[in-house]
Amino acid sequence: MAGERPSKAGRRKTRTRFDKIMSEPVPIPQAAIDNAVTVMRSGRLFRYGEDTAGGGEAAAFERAFAAFVERPYAVAVNSCGCSLFLAMKALGVAPGDKVLCNGFTLAPVPGAISHIGAEHILVDITERLTVDLKDLEEKAIQSGARLLILSHMRGHVGDLDAVKALCDRLGVSIIEDCAHTLGARWNGRPVGSFGKVACYSSQTFKHINSGEGGILATDDPDVAAKAIVLSGSYMMYGQNGARPADEIFAPIRDATPNYSMRMSNLVAAILRPQLDALGGCIESWNDAYRRIEAGLDAIPHVAPIPRDPRDAFVGSSIQFLARPGLSPAVVATFVEEAAAHGVYIKWFGAERTAGFTSRYDQWRYLADGRRLRGADAVLPRLMDMRIAVSFTPQDCQTILTVLAEAMDAATEGRTD
Ligand SMILES: Cc1ncc(COP(=O)(O)O)c(C=O)c1O
Repeated sequence: MAGERPSKAGRRKTRTRFDKIMSEPVPIPQAAIDNAVTVMRSGRLFRYGEDTAGGGEAAAFERAFAAFVERPYAVAVNSCGCSLFLAMKALGVAPGDKVLCNGFTLAPVPGAISHIGAEHILVDITERLTVDLKDLEEKAIQSGARLLILSHMRGHVGDLDAVKALCDRLGVSIIEDCAHTLGARWNGRPVGSFGKVACYSSQTFKHINSGEGGILATDDPDVAAKAIVLSGSYMMYGQNGARPADEIFAPIRDATPNYSMRMSNLVAAILRPQLDALGGCIESWNDAYRRIEAGLDAIPHVAPIPRDPRDAFVGSSIQFLARPGLSPAVVATFVEEAAAHGVYIKWFGAERTAGFTSRYDQWRYLADGRRLRGADAVLPRLMDMRIAVSFTPQDCQTILTVLAEAMDAATEGRTD
């Protein structure tokens, strides 16, 4: 695949190609396959038992997950989008309420707010892809919103101590969207332990993979009990694995609707062993991340998003910016050239984005039509690449060579 970077003249003739799939998922470990087969043989795919004990794999996964994220309660559900919806419901968000969320996130986040019938208040972002604290303060005060869904988009967390301090001062509760931060820590504390609730995803491109799945974690017993009943526990909440005491459910169980958003035992069976394997995956992701980050620094006209030393992230993708002034036409050619040689980049500045939905101006169902100055400055320059857990040092080098050659091709002979 890769070789040494050839001379410029040679490069045009013998361009490097990357032959692996950038979005290759983490394979399902054998222990998870064995677990799933055992559940299928038993026929007990539904998580609750009626005249049997129930509390099988889903409950065991909840216990393991709660321990992993260092919170007392965890509720396994069918997606992260649904866990965001359930978290808002459990916190008492009602139709028409205002909810703050990042201007740069994935569509399931504004989607969950729409699902409730609440009103989105988009908060601007910084060059580091995290919420702009000044804009957060202004929008919280102007709108009177009492809740922030804080997306740690692509694993960029910002100063969580400062966000928490600001939200505490403003009387704003936080739901952390941890779809991209399972296993990450900020300043020594698990990301997900700064808000009232944290929501995680096990969709295939996340850090644990069951195709679809979500988990809500909290240390608030009331929120946990409400989320369990809302998720659809049919009065069998006693079988949940990481739940509050029975008496917490007493005032809740008959006053709370059932939205049927449970996780099945089969999905949980696939997920539980992946928690044990996650530490090893994080090492592989981060090793590849550091190699690609260092190499990106050496490619003209692009720069990786800097990371704070307090941010112990999980590098399952990498984001980088075109330097200010690089024309959109050059960026477009760079992205096309890289794709033509096997390196797939998402570019948030493309006129019509393909394969993702993270441009706030494409969410036309939002009532909030205000522009976000920070996002408008950053997104046209922002590029994003997945990192597969299987990438070797040689793969990273090949990717970097493809990118360097793509940039040469995009800039050659141009003055714009
Ligand atoms: C930032 C972010 N938040 C939330 C979600 C929602 O996750 P799910 O697909 O499990 O609903 C995603 C999903 O891809 C995401 O990228």
